[in-house]
Amino acid sequence: MAQLWGGRFTKETDQLVYNFNASISFDQKFYREDMEGSMAHVKMLAATGILTEDERDQILKGLEGILADVESGVLPITSEYEDIHSFVEANLIDRIGDAGKKLHTGRSRNDQVALDMKLFTRKEIVALKELVKELILVLHNLMKEHTDTYMPGFTHLQKAQPITLAHHLGAYMEMFKRDYGRLDDIFERMNYCPIGSGALAGTTYPLDRNMTAQLLGFKGPTLNSMDSVSDRDYVIELLSAMSTIMMHLSRFSEEIIIWNSNEYQFVELDDAYSTGSSIMPQKKNPDIAELVRGKTGRVYGALMQILTTMKGIPLAYNKDMQEDKEMTFDAIDTVKGCLALFTGMVKTMTVNKDKMESSAKNGFTNATDAADYLVNHGVPFRDAHGIVGQLVLYCIDKNISLDDMSLEEYKKISPVFEEDIYDAISLQTCVEKRTTIGAPGKVAMENVIALNEDWISKLN
Ligand code: ARG
Repeated sequence: MAQLWGGRFTKETDQLVYNFNASISFDQKFYREDMEGSMAHVKMLAATGILTEDERDQILKGLEGILADVESGVLPITSEYEDIHSFVEANLIDRIGDAGKKLHTGRSRNDQVALDMKLFTRKEIVALKELVKELILVLHNLMKEHTDTYMPGFTHLQKAQPITLAHHLGAYMEMFKRDYGRLDDIFERMNYCPIGSGALAGTTYPLDRNMTAQLLGFKGPTLNSMDSVSDRDYVIELLSAMSTIMMHLSRFSEEIIIWNSNEYQFVELDDAYSTGSSIMPQKKNPDIAELVRGKTGRVYGALMQILTTMKGIPLAYNKDMQEDKEMTFDAIDTVKGCLALFTGMVKTMTVNKDKMESSAKNGFTNATDAADYLVNHGVPFRDAHGIVGQLVLYCIDKNISLDDMSLEEYKKISPVFEEDIYDAISLQTCVEKRTTIGAPGKVAMENVIALNEDWISKLN
């Protein structure tokens, strides 16, 4: 048992208590951030005259050595230390002696862990943004390719009106653009440095918190030392943004599973992104999409966990907060993995344009346009709706589509119909006439694609 405290204790910690309390098994994940934070802290301590330059140099050299040895595997992080902070400090003292004992001047593990977690999640936000951007780029290219790929749009999973694949993908594009923006917003809001807040009430040392904040790339120091050590809002925000990403990926996965099914065959997943069955030789299963859909629950779970953990904690630091890590780390790894795999899956799938188009031609997706035709010829919409309802019933009975009806048959139901009805309800007209902003017509889509192109070009 190696811990940073014990002076006021007369007994050894019970081993089970020690194990229960320890966090090294998971907080070792941010060993690098812990040492980077310490390096900035110690530079500030020397700049303010709290430590000498010689002490600073010894500590920096010691920390650099520990970091290098951990990275190369020479120095394993083991469970004999309570947490990553203890591991670093104990090793530092081992290496450089008394100067190492001064590293913790003017700080507490409370502001230290708050800093480490922020540095770690801040870096992960950048990685997540990159992965969302890659998915956005793949969608953007597919959209450009599929402005003429007609398919049915659905409501209630029933064919509704014809759209294009570019339009359908464009809906996800908007979702992932918002997801990207949310990650950006979180980064901006969280980017204030808690170190120097001490245990909860600041310190009496003349710390230069602006300097540490600047050294670590923050916008500035946090403004309340109690909030600094007990704020985990950014973890909640990140888990919330990641839950929304997963919700979007999950909905998209569900659609890909449907599109890839034997019944639909709108797309075919690449062999490299499909799996087989141990018993049924004919199977090619969309396991990746199903796993993405399934793992969504895991990320929501992490969000619920931290919300619940935080809800009853009085100010300032309480040990409950140690529970901010494991599920958050798991969620970050999960979302990163899902984004990467999902992007690869979408990029490599083949689109079956003919299947999509013939599906759009069946199922009365042009019924609204038939009603609009009547409206354009002076029939009130409600009456037009009723007339087209009769047409549909007639077609179902005869097992034909609206396009297959003769003009005589049309006229029997309403004399308003003329030869130009066929053009008015053709798949192409139905899509291409929809040119309002955000609609599937090619003209409208190309405008949106240009706007997206501009949006993408401004990404940092
Ligand atoms: N392992 C702790 C955590 O993750 C570090 C902070 C410990 N602070 C304390 N007062 N015991 O929250």
